[in-house]
Amino acid sequence: MFLDGPGGTQVPQRVIDAISDYLSRNNANTGGAYQTSRNTDSMIAEARSAMADFLNCDADEIVFGANMTTLTYGMSRALGRDLGPGDEIVLTLLDHDANFSPWKALEEKGVVIRAAKFNEVDCTLDMADLASKIGSRTRVVAVGYASNAVGTVNNVAEVVGLARQVGALSYIDAVHYAPHGLIDVRQLDCDFLVCSTYKFFGPHMGVLYGKREHLKKFRPYKVRPNTDNIPNCWEWGTLNHEGIAGIKACVDYWEEVGRQSEKERSGQTRRESIVRAHAALHQHERQMMEKMIAGLLAIPGLKLYGITDPSRFENRCATIVVRIEGHTPLELATKLGERGIFTWDGNYYALNVTEQLDVERLGGFLRIGLVHYNTMDEVDTLLAALREIVG
Ligand SMILES: Cc1ncc(COP(=O)(O)O)c(C=O)c1O
Repeated sequence: MFLDGPGGTQVPQRVIDAISDYLSRNNANTGGAYQTSRNTDSMIAEARSAMADFLNCDADEIVFGANMTTLTYGMSRALGRDLGPGDEIVLTLLDHDANFSPWKALEEKGVVIRAAKFNEVDCTLDMADLASKIGSRTRVVAVGYASNAVGTVNNVAEVVGLARQVGALSYIDAVHYAPHGLIDVRQLDCDFLVCSTYKFFGPHMGVLYGKREHLKKFRPYKVRPNTDNIPNCWEWGTLNHEGIAGIKACVDYWEEVGRQSEKERSGQTRRESIVRAHAALHQHERQMMEKMIAGLLAIPGLKLYGITDPSRFENRCATIVVRIEGHTPLELATKLGERGIFTWDGNYYALNVTEQLDVERLGGFLRIGLVHYNTMDEVDTLLAALREIVG
C-alpha cells in the first residue's frame, strides 16, 4: 500500500513502456545526422510541448533537468551573478530545503536572506510577516506552492503579486503541489516555477518553467559549445532522454484521465483534458483526506500538524503529518511498513518546519501521503493498523 506519494509516486504502465521503448529503439544523443538521433530530437520537442500544456506556457519556456534541486541551484547561481550587498531574497520557513539552501548560498556574495515565518497553530504561511519582509531591496521571492510536510497550500498568487509590486522575481516550488492541483503559470504570472515529474506519475526528473524574457536575459553557467538558444542553454550536458520519453507519456496519462473523466468531447485540447483530470482527482483526494483526518484525530494521543478544520480543506492537500504520544515516527513507519503500508518518517528535507515546531530532535513526523490512486479502503486499512499499533 503506497501512502508515500510525497516521496515519489508509482507510474502507469505507459510511462514504463515509453522509457524502455526509447532505450530499445531510439537510444542516441541529440543533434546527430542519423535517424535515431533525429527521433530523439523530435521526442524531446514533443515532451517539451506536453509539459508546456501541463503548466500552460510555451514549449521554449520549459527546461528539463535532473531534479528540482539541481535546477534550482543552477538558476539561483545564474540569478545570483547580478546580486551582491544591498540585495535581498525572501524565502519561507515552510519550504522544502531545496527552495531554501540554494538561495541561502548567495549569502557568500553579500545577499541578505529574509525568511518569512509560518503560524504554528495551523502551519499556514504568515502572510503579514512575508509581506513585511518584501521591500525595495528584494530581488527574488522564492516560495513553495504546497508544503511537502504539513500539506498547506499557499496563496502563491498573492505572493507573486507582492513580489511584482517591488519589481522582484517570483520563484515557485510546485514540486509538492503538482500531483494535487492544476498549475497555470500564465494565470499566476510567476517568473519561474519548478516541479518534479516523479511526484506526479512520471520519471525521476525535474522541470523548470521560466518566462521567455528571463530565460533570454539571464546568463546560465554553461559549456562553450552548448547553444545560446533557449531553453537548451539552460540544460547542462546530456539529459536523461529515456526519462524525457517518460515525461511525455506521463502527460499523456494526465490527458487520458481527463478524457475518461468526462465522456470525451471532440475537439478537447490536451490542456483542457489536463484541467478536467485535476478536477476529477481533486474530488477523490478531498474525500479520502476528510476520512483520513477525521479518523486520525480520533486516535488517542495523536497530534496532527496543519489545517484540521474541514471548512478550510481547500487550503491543504492530502499530505498529513502526525505524532503519537509514546511512539517515535520511525517506530510507527517501521511497524506500518511491516504490515505492507508504506509511509515516511523524519523531516523530508522540510528542515525549517521540523525545527520551528521543535520535533526535529524527536524524529520529525510520520507522514501519510495520499494521491489519486489511493482508495477509501486503504484509508480504512491505515487507520485500523495505526489503532492496533498504538493499542
Ligand atoms: C516541496 C518540495 N520541493 C523540492 C523537492 C526536491 O525535489 P527534487 O527531489 O526533484 O530535487 C521536494 C522533494 O521531495 C519537495 O517535496
